[in-house]
Amino acid sequence: MTSEQDNLRYTKLSLNNGSGEIPALGFGTLIPDPIATRNATKAALDAGFRALDTAERYRTEREVGEAMQEVFKAGKIRREEVFVATKLWNTNHRPERVRTAFEASLEKLQVDYVDLYLIHTPFAFRPGDEQDPRDASGKVIYDKAVTLLDTWRAMEDLVDEGTCKAIGLSDVSLEQVKEIIKAGRIKPAVVHVESHPYLPEWELLDYCRKNGIVLQAFAALGHSGEPKLLEDPIIAAVARRVNKTPAQVLLAWGIQRGTALLTTSKTPSRIKENFDVSTLPENAMREINDGIKLRVRLNAVVETGVPGFIPRGR
Ligand SMILES: NC(=O)c1ccc[n+]([C@@H]2O[C@H](COP(=O)([O-])OP(=O)(O)OC[C@H]3O[C@@H](n4cnc5c(N)ncnc54)[C@H](OP(=O)(O)O)[C@@H]3O)[C@@H](O)[C@H]2O)c1
Repeated sequence: MTSEQDNLRYTKLSLNNGSGEIPALGFGTLIPDPIATRNATKAALDAGFRALDTAERYRTEREVGEAMQEVFKAGKIRREEVFVATKLWNTNHRPERVRTAFEASLEKLQVDYVDLYLIHTPFAFRPGDEQDPRDASGKVIYDKAVTLLDTWRAMEDLVDEGTCKAIGLSDVSLEQVKEIIKAGRIKPAVVHVESHPYLPEWELLDYCRKNGIVLQAFAALGHSGEPKLLEDPIIAAVARRVNKTPAQVLLAWGIQRGTALLTTSKTPSRIKENFDVSTLPENAMREINDGIKLRVRLNAVVETGVPGFIPRGR
């Protein structure tokens, strides 16, 4: 089968609430430079990506909004064709702050609804404009006055109003997902966590599948961290055999095991490469699943709520 005949890149996963479906292959916009963010977002839409991920904390919503507007105005793509996701930051967990934060995101993105709004991490930080509040000794100042469930209930209210199609959780443990499912009125549509062959999260994926939740993986290519997933010998051997690049193998693996995933690049050729995925044979899937034994978490955000991939000060 040639890659033109292979529809893996167009895979969509059903959502238990909201816009109905999420494209499995998504483009993340955690890119430090604003001009690079705008160009990369346009290049991603041009290459065929139809799911974008941003966050209040990345400070890229404005550039993502500008890039979308430019593409929509050129008449190439309509707003309804793009699945737009953003995230509530840790300093806005108090229920009375959720709507204001959400409306600020809509305004920056220049959209009147988002397809998915995620609680960025389960950690509440001191409310206020300082996104990274620290005490004199440099320790994060947490907010003990609010629980994840309090914030979730405020997110549910946004869904009722229709400007937020679906809601979900990010950087959570299985236990936290269970807690929200038990006590919440609306189930998370998406659970967004780090995942790749060095951190496959099989137990969480299995739970999500059974409960109709989409697991969306970030750092699908290993975020250029160490050890270098893109240089893994098993991934490299599969890539040579199927005549694809290591990045395309990692992305295909993620889609074929039933997750949505996000990749990011500011390099136009890589953006195209990352959309040009095609189905791996079953034996390649088995080789990756059974052959890779290394287990590594690249982003420590789940331990503290401090985003490991965002430089301090941004
Ligand atoms: N919720 C959270 O806590 C959280 C945390 C982290 C990320 N995220 C989301 O997930 C998205 C993806 O995460 P990520 O940045 O870790 O993505 P990633 O795709 O694993 O890593 C991105 C890095 O890989 C490089 N790269 C991309 N395509 C490549 C290719 N084909 N060949 C070789 N290198 C390639 C990029 O370099 P160049 O840019 O130089 O091309 C970039 O340095 C983020 O943008 C963000 O939206 C969420």
